Amino acid sequence: MKIVVSPSFDERPKGDLLLVPYWEGGSSASSLAPAHDVLTAVLRSGDFKGKVGDVSIVYPGEGQELRICLLGLGRQAVVTAEVLRRAYAAGVKAARVKKNKIVHLLFPKTDPITVEEALRGVIEGVLLSNYAFTELKGDSLIDSPVVLFEQLTLFGLDKKHQKTIDSLQTIAAAVYRARTWVNRNADDANPTQLAEEALRLKTKGLEVTLIDQKRLEKEGMGLLLAVGRGSRHAPCMIQASYRGDPKSKEHILLVGKGVTYDTGGLCLKTPEGMLSMKCDMAGSAVVFAAVQLAEQLKLKINVSALMPLTENAIGSGSYKQGDVYRACNGKTVEILNTDAEGRLILADAIAYGVKRLSPSAIIDVGTLTGAMVITLGEEMAGFFSNDETLSKELSAASIETGEALWRLPLYDYKEALASDIADLANVGGRDASSMKAALFLQEFTDSVPWVHIDMAGPAYISKPKHYHPTKGTGWGVRLLIQFLKHRSRS
Ligand code: BES
Ligand code: ZN
Ligand code: ZN
Repeated sequence: MKIVVSPSFDERPKGDLLLVPYWEGGSSASSLAPAHDVLTAVLRSGDFKGKVGDVSIVYPGEGQELRICLLGLGRQAVVTAEVLRRAYAAGVKAARVKKNKIVHLLFPKTDPITVEEALRGVIEGVLLSNYAFTELKGDSLIDSPVVLFEQLTLFGLDKKHQKTIDSLQTIAAAVYRARTWVNRNADDANPTQLAEEALRLKTKGLEVTLIDQKRLEKEGMGLLLAVGRGSRHAPCMIQASYRGDPKSKEHILLVGKGVTYDTGGLCLKTPEGMLSMKCDMAGSAVVFAAVQLAEQLKLKINVSALMPLTENAIGSGSYKQGDVYRACNGKTVEILNTDAEGRLILADAIAYGVKRLSPSAIIDVGTLTGAMVITLGEEMAGFFSNDETLSKELSAASIETGEALWRLPLYDYKEALASDIADLANVGGRDASSMKAALFLQEFTDSVPWVHIDMAGPAYISKPKHYHPTKGTGWGVRLLIQFLKHRSRS
């Protein structure tokens, strides 16, 4: 979808719908709101309260648009970019019926927040909700077609902001791609196909290389190979690198869990537990999108993404409980639960990254533990870190993008991961299980500043929420690119 800023509201062409924002209580949030009697009547009736996301569609019978949609933004004093995201997403949802092709939007007054913050909120609210995954729909699309906007015109904003809008659009496209990778059939989005797709997306500035099974063997990545053993699709790892600041030694390493389907392996999941497990490669989708964005936005930064890709399948070849496997840094791991596979493939990839890429900071992302969903719910991710600065930077980025994130402690529970026959066990009891996954990963970081993000909650949701569609949300793409933007030299 294209969003264009138009300076002349009075001379606008005829449209199907005009979206007009109001504060709670009914005062107009835009000086361009037309003075139609029907709007006054709606506001007087008390039917429209102006709370965040309230919508009411009226037919003015005259003027430039056939329909006007009143949109509530809540109380002006407490408006934030996130409030605007949610409100404009509700407006877009109400307006997304097939009759509305030419849609006009009024940009709201921005105080007490800045124009830039408001712009981010409005544009992201509109763009992130204008997505639908229809690849797997058939005839049902004929009776109930999915309407997506192709163009929206924004009034009440200086034209100089068009550039920012264009870059927000590039970011939204990356979020869509991450969602689509997750939403596809796990059978299609298998390690081989995801690797092929990543290789296809390589450009002059974005180097994409495949580390295939043979190379994994040479590198001694026994943990990733172990998890992949039960599947007919060979495991592999993709490295995507962008060097936007060749003079600098700084190099950020992103590592994303890429389990294309998690059956639990021999420790088989329950049907309910397995139902959403096509989401288990969301971490890989997010880190790839972030590096690609760093290149598209030409950030002055060096960043690489590692995507260990495998299926955690059940079969006669599956890796076994009680057996011991060796990571590429030589550490041995006793498998006490084959369903705790995410930490195994991340550990191998982190150790590989530390050895080969000398990163100055590592951020790993993945859908690691069900316990994190219990702790923070479907809307928040938790993170663990060995570094205060990195943690603060990430928390700040999260507030800006609205991707809610909470730091959890790395308490000294390491003895729970002790093994009688290996250097480490992959699990250590049910208590503090998200933290134990983090403690396990920490063993592979070689004390490089590091963050582990467990996004098992928000990566994949069962019902649409705010500007997220159902299923894959693309959670984390905006967070990582915002973090990288702040880290980059401008
Ligand atoms: N992929 C799952 C975690 C998950 C659960 C992601 C729910 C998204 C939603 C992970 O591989 C897993 O199975 N973790 C186990 C760890 C346990 C065996 C220590 C879990 O959470 O039960
Ligand atoms: Zn698992
Ligand atoms: Zn998993």
